[in-house]
Amino acid sequence: MTLLVTGGAGFIGSNFVLDWLADAAAEPIVNLDALTYAGNRQNLAALEGDARHVFVHGDIGDRALLDRLLAEHRPRAVLHFAAESHVDRSIHGPGAFIKTNVEGTFTLLEAMRAYWSALEGDARAAWRFLHISTDEVYGSLASDAPAFTETHPYQPNSPYSASKAASDHLVRAWKHTYGLPVLTTNCSNNYGPFQFPEKLIPLMIVNALAGKPLPVYGDGMQVRDWLFVGDHCSAIRAVLAQGRCGEVYNIGGWNEQPNRDIVHTVCALLDELRPDPAGPYARLISHVKDRPGHDRRYAIDARKIERELGWRPAESFETGIRKTVQWYLSHADWVAAVQSGSYRDWVATNYAARG
Ligand code: NAD
Ligand code: TYD
Repeated sequence: MTLLVTGGAGFIGSNFVLDWLADAAAEPIVNLDALTYAGNRQNLAALEGDARHVFVHGDIGDRALLDRLLAEHRPRAVLHFAAESHVDRSIHGPGAFIKTNVEGTFTLLEAMRAYWSALEGDARAAWRFLHISTDEVYGSLASDAPAFTETHPYQPNSPYSASKAASDHLVRAWKHTYGLPVLTTNCSNNYGPFQFPEKLIPLMIVNALAGKPLPVYGDGMQVRDWLFVGDHCSAIRAVLAQGRCGEVYNIGGWNEQPNRDIVHTVCALLDELRPDPAGPYARLISHVKDRPGHDRRYAIDARKIERELGWRPAESFETGIRKTVQWYLSHADWVAAVQSGSYRDWVATNYAARG
């Protein structure tokens, strides 16, 4: 028995692979990743020499490669993490999002359909395609609106969320039309180790440590629900193990907060753990021009996964954010390695437009 993971060198995928293989009895993983700017083999360094982890450098859009991998490894399930994942990048260059998130997911589904159709008996009945998606497909909520349930209408507003919404629709249609056994999860904002420092929390940590401005878009009162990445991984395991075939599960942290509060919490933790002689880190907060089309609020109603699968997050925001800040403080080498020339180019492009 083997799992095929796509995008397992990225933030959430690498956390999942490491968590999964931490169990000595766990099934092996074939990890297919194109190693874009967001994919990093260093995240998986702890698995060097572990025969249960087979890393394959390749693209989900490469059908011949997918067919070869399926024939060779015969996975009993596929966990699809691979995506272009950053809203700001999707604003500057939406093409890559359509290519990977829409066309890539289509190619993957077609390869899986061919493979699954040829299975028989128990192997066919137990086979699963688990599609990892986002709460952003549901669009923006008014401040007093109820949180997103699984039946909330799709109203994506950014090129990123539109491309993920399109991929969710493809997955749904492959179940409805061809019977492919799929599961979909829509999760809120993750944070934790190995997150690329273009997303809010790691960007604030690495900028603060470098004495750089902490760029808060607009008034900083946009609300997100934040979930520690280890909790997302445990939710995915629960859905894979017991999720009802064809169902959608929303995953969230019951932790809605405006960006301004998140940034102040990060600053306060850094003040405690790595005080700056120049003064409190909050002095670096700088309000910059808002993101175009910026969604005001996301909130997840995660009652279905709790009711059906007994899952709830194990970390509170206080414990999770402390672990995260400590991880970045003790992994300066990782941060330096991912802040390559291309990363610096991106930061210059994004923030030149915001001022
Ligand atoms: P990430 O950007 O850190 O990692 C994406 C990974 O996919 C990278 O390793 C990259 O190399 C790989 N990849 C990209 N294009 C590929 C392709 N064409 N073929 C093969 N591999 C490719 O993203 P993440 O934050 O780990 O997110 C993983 C998944 O979870 C995504 O589908 C994302 O939409 C979803 N998600 C993320 C969050 C979040 O807060 N980060 C929240 C909810 C859902
Ligand atoms: P981000 O981490 O990019 O996730 P998403 O856009 O997918 O929710 O951003 C989280 C929130 O933080 C979002 O409301 C935008 C805001 N933000 C800033 O204010 N400044 C920044 O530099 C970044 C990257 C994000």
